[in-house]
Amino acid sequence: MSDVQLVWPNKHLTLRASGRMGYEWLEPSDRRLTKPLKVRPISKAELSATSNVLAIGDGLDVLEALAETPALNSGIRLVYIDPPFNTQVNFRQYNDSMHRAQWLSMMRDRLVALKAHLTDDASVWVHLDDAEVHRARAVMDEVFGEQAFVASVIWQKKMTRDSRAAFSSNHDTILVYAPSGPKKWKTSRNLLVKDDAVLRNRDDDPRGPWADAPFTAPGYRRAQQYDIVTPTGAVLRPPRGRSWYATEPTYRELLAEDRIWFPKGGDGSPRLKLFAHQLRGLVPFTVWGSSDTGTNDDAKRHLLALFPDIEVFDTPKPESLLERIIHIATNPGDLVVDIFAGSGTTAAAAHKMRRRWITVERNAQTVADFTLPRLNSVVRGDDQGGISTAVSWTGGGAFNVLGVEPRFGSVRADAAIASVTRQVALTEEDLSERQSIA
Ligand SMILES: C[S@@+](CC[C@H](N)C(=O)[O-])C[C@H]1O[C@@H](n2cnc3c(N)ncnc32)[C@H](O)[C@@H]1O
Repeated sequence: MSDVQLVWPNKHLTLRASGRMGYEWLEPSDRRLTKPLKVRPISKAELSATSNVLAIGDGLDVLEALAETPALNSGIRLVYIDPPFNTQVNFRQYNDSMHRAQWLSMMRDRLVALKAHLTDDASVWVHLDDAEVHRARAVMDEVFGEQAFVASVIWQKKMTRDSRAAFSSNHDTILVYAPSGPKKWKTSRNLLVKDDAVLRNRDDDPRGPWADAPFTAPGYRRAQQYDIVTPTGAVLRPPRGRSWYATEPTYRELLAEDRIWFPKGGDGSPRLKLFAHQLRGLVPFTVWGSSDTGTNDDAKRHLLALFPDIEVFDTPKPESLLERIIHIATNPGDLVVDIFAGSGTTAAAAHKMRRRWITVERNAQTVADFTLPRLNSVVRGDDQGGISTAVSWTGGGAFNVLGVEPRFGSVRADAAIASVTRQVALTEEDLSERQSIA
């Protein structure tokens, strides 16, 4: 443990969900914490090791409840969370004004619970802004160890300028930690795919478009000095101080495989053709621009197209941002977890990218209005916004819905939960009708 730590009041206590949206401080040894949580299945299917899960409840309660089920068996490969930033502003769908000590304990306790389920090659991405990011980094150092820090990614969240402010802040920060440490994690993470613009098909190659690189290498190597005859009959030698990229027998093989291209109508120096799978990907930068990863406004426009009749969710993130994170940190079939679901962007992007997912949202009204209908439309293939075209999404798959009641405080009969239950029942009826027709 580091000899330098952040301190805050009640740090030794745990912060537990109480009632519909409140919290309560408790001694970690409090006997009431051993009381089993009440898990209410809202959809009919049983949870299995490959289930996707949308849970209504507090993230920590849900993780504890799911620990008893097969849903978390395989371990979590990626955690992405976009919690309330503690900006002291209240949004339509949730309050963002906690006491700082509560916010810090809330974050720490949920990160500790997530840590227990991570795979060896997992990473944890925490999306914040300047309100708490510096304190959150100290908390993450404490939970995962300083050696687990990988990067802080700056995401350009908007393009418009606020002319009233001292500075017009247009970025959020995403803290990236890998418990295995950046060196080891690097060996399992994915590189970014090179921009398709570099791939062209200049000779109608049936294998598809290709990029090209000079067929030379630096330095003088005797075995790589030989004559190359271009299609127009010119005889070429490597430029001074350089060699051809390969020995003559390898060059002949590449030529026979149509991997060598001579520009300038067959008169130029040879170039090596590289197809998409042969291109080394790009190491991600730490600054992510909106042209690659979208803005908050892009995310709102996507939601408005899905739900034109209700007031838009206040703080959604764009699917293109999640696509990049999920691409870097996981492979198809891996489990992605987000315990602050909001409108459900992480689950929607993970589903379209054929990853498994668990997502949790405490506000049942948000689930009824946004998260559930959005994920239903992803499954049906009706949602053609966000990353659908980029990942060729046409629908499929399924997910389970469950509710987890807090251990403390009373939860009154909730109209939003009743609406979720109704929506799930209608979807299940519709699906079984479609199956019986097919
Ligand atoms: C910033 S929003 C997430 C937005 C989301 N990334 C999206 O793209 O729509 C944070 C969400 O976390 C939810 N939330 C707050 N505290 C929670 C808790 N303890 N457990 C689960 N969800 C919580 C809020 O209701 C809110 O919907």
